[in-house]
Amino acid sequence: MSDKLRVAVIGCGRMGQHYAHVYNTLPDTELVAIAEYNPTRRQIVGERFGVKAVYQDAATLFEEVQPDIAAIVLPGKFIKGAVLAAVAAGVRGVTTDKPIGALLSDADEMVKACADQGVVFGGGNLQRAMGEVHEAGMWLQNGDFGRLTGGSVHNWGGEISGGGCQHISVLRLFAGAEVQEVTAWATPEDVLNGDSDAGLIVNGRLRMTNGLEVSIFGTKTPFSGVDVWSDNALVRWDWDPPEIYQGFDSQGRRIRQDRPFTPYEFPEFYYLGTSIRSFIDAVQTGSELWISGFDLRQALEVAIAARNSARHGNVPTMLPLADRDQTLYPIPYRWDGGDVTDRIQPDLEAGSPWSGY
Ligand SMILES: NC(=O)c1ccc[n+]([C@@H]2O[C@H](COP(=O)([O-])OP(=O)(O)OC[C@H]3O[C@@H](n4cnc5c(N)ncnc54)[C@H](O)[C@@H]3O)[C@@H](O)[C@H]2O)c1
Repeated sequence: MSDKLRVAVIGCGRMGQHYAHVYNTLPDTELVAIAEYNPTRRQIVGERFGVKAVYQDAATLFEEVQPDIAAIVLPGKFIKGAVLAAVAAGVRGVTTDKPIGALLSDADEMVKACADQGVVFGGGNLQRAMGEVHEAGMWLQNGDFGRLTGGSVHNWGGEISGGGCQHISVLRLFAGAEVQEVTAWATPEDVLNGDSDAGLIVNGRLRMTNGLEVSIFGTKTPFSGVDVWSDNALVRWDWDPPEIYQGFDSQGRRIRQDRPFTPYEFPEFYYLGTSIRSFIDAVQTGSELWISGFDLRQALEVAIAARNSARHGNVPTMLPLADRDQTLYPIPYRWDGGDVTDRIQPDLEAGSPWSGY
């Protein structure tokens, strides 16, 4: 009997196939089952990864298979049902991808169900779990750059929950604190008054629980990530590995430092690999998750708070939100999936070997 962790991937579209490839490659995991609704894709992906236990959905899979790990890579509207089914099936760990959901109480329910049953609840392919981003976060939290004095979030627009959860997750890591208060302005008005984040551009300000003040720019600036700074240093995540600046030259400009990051064991998997590695370690040893379902829930809550603040006339809005029955829907592709929003993955692509992102 193998002592590898037995993994089921639920949802084997574009992103799910990346997960399947990683779990099929790592030395301490074994891909044992797949749930995929589209019958042709199910067959193609099963053959591609040599998995015979293929099912149409999570409920059918868990009737016959009890994996150690379930990776839920479904369109948003199916995530909660699959996470709860995995917990009920007795998995040791479950992951989801972004955004975690649309209804805040759904996100609460998933976080609570996992906590109550002692199930490790991981996040997904988020840059917070990129090796270099995590390492820079540890340097910041160890005080290597001194006390933080400010922060900014750039390009938090267009998709404040769907894509914007990347920014909030990195910011919370870098600041070492939670978002406590949100004040926001947003356009266009018809989107602001709708129920989706598609096309919503938000400018505003966050106050963190450690007192840090963070400006939000949804309107275009030269950057598109998260900056945090201290008296003499700046750590900039602008997608991909962070840039570190420390000290000033004779003209007062910041000096970029070439501080090396720890190399990847599987560079071809990039940050999905480091995200999954931290998740497996958490399942095996109880170590810290680099991205968690809790992180995704916090990001959804900040997005809803910003939308509310802007709707009500930039009213400073405290977190946690008292009303948990609030929603913010992501773009239709994320919520409903590619097959029903005219972004169907071609069979040839589903059957092709991994070619990186
Ligand atoms: N973190 C990232 O970088 C990133 C990037 C893209 C997508 N995503 C997220 O990943 C998830 C999936 O996105 P995708 O790009 O793979 O979409 P996709 O449409 O390519 O794949 C979704 C797959 O799920 C299957 N499916 C739908 N309902 C199902 C059900 N009830 N049971 C089993 N299978 C079902 C579909 O047939 C499809 O194959 C979404 O939540 C999306 O927001 C994250």
